[in-house]
Amino acid sequence: MILVKLGGSVITEKNQLRSFRKENVERLVEEIKNAGKKIILVHGAGSFGHLLASEYHLQKGFISRDQIPGLAKVMLDVRELNLNVMKILEEKGIAAVSIPPSTSTRLNSGEIVHIDYDLFERFIELDTMPVTFGDVCLDKKLKFGICSGDQLMEKLAIHFNVERAIFCTDVDGIFSSDPTSNPDARLIEEVDRSILDHIPRNSRYTDVTGSMFGKIERMIRIASRDCECLVINGNVPGRLEAALKGDSVKGTRVIGE
Ligand code: IPE
Repeated sequence: MILVKLGGSVITEKNQLRSFRKENVERLVEEIKNAGKKIILVHGAGSFGHLLASEYHLQKGFISRDQIPGLAKVMLDVRELNLNVMKILEEKGIAAVSIPPSTSTRLNSGEIVHIDYDLFERFIELDTMPVTFGDVCLDKKLKFGICSGDQLMEKLAIHFNVERAIFCTDVDGIFSSDPTSNPDARLIEEVDRSILDHIPRNSRYTDVTGSMFGKIERMIRIASRDCECLVINGNVPGRLEAALKGDSVKGTRVIGE
């Protein structure tokens, strides 16, 4: 079993509200199909989630009733994004089923404490591809919160003991500094925990689902479970297919502890 996350920056235009990158998703789905592996697919929210989630401070949990229309809007928007992805999977001949976290996952203080794994298991038994995504979920302590695709990746990787977890982002992998603003940023082909000494815990790039620091920490935990953990560029044709097939591919391999 292989777990794939299509990051929000690969499937949407991140700064343009609700803008779906249809052609990119069509190509990525072709690559998934060509690789012919058993997959659980996770996708991010991009501009269908982050912009409004941040406007309504949904990551902070319940503060006031003014947030509630925002909660409903973001839930609707991420469903719409998911439906766009599901339609492409169907068009390309992949029998995929959507498992929205809002109705199958619970949080406590922002961390996942329950996932209905049985749903995933039963749909996998039926030879379908479960698809889940970054969403708004109920939170035991905070009433509601944001469940990111990365949090789902960690839980699903561990529960299903997956052989490989592939994170598709809009850059080639993990860099020594931010490659979008620093031309000297260097791609790191293998990262381990020591990289965390060089990354701020909270940076100005922190969005509603956390910092780069937190994302890498999660990846290290996945890699520590006998699972190959890769970060690749989902915008470059062929990389996802190669990573799925186990061919060598440009990107970052995360080393566990
Ligand atoms: C975010 O999920 C979910 C919401 C904002 C509702 P992700 O954190 O997985 O999304 P991307 O990949 O960063 O866009």
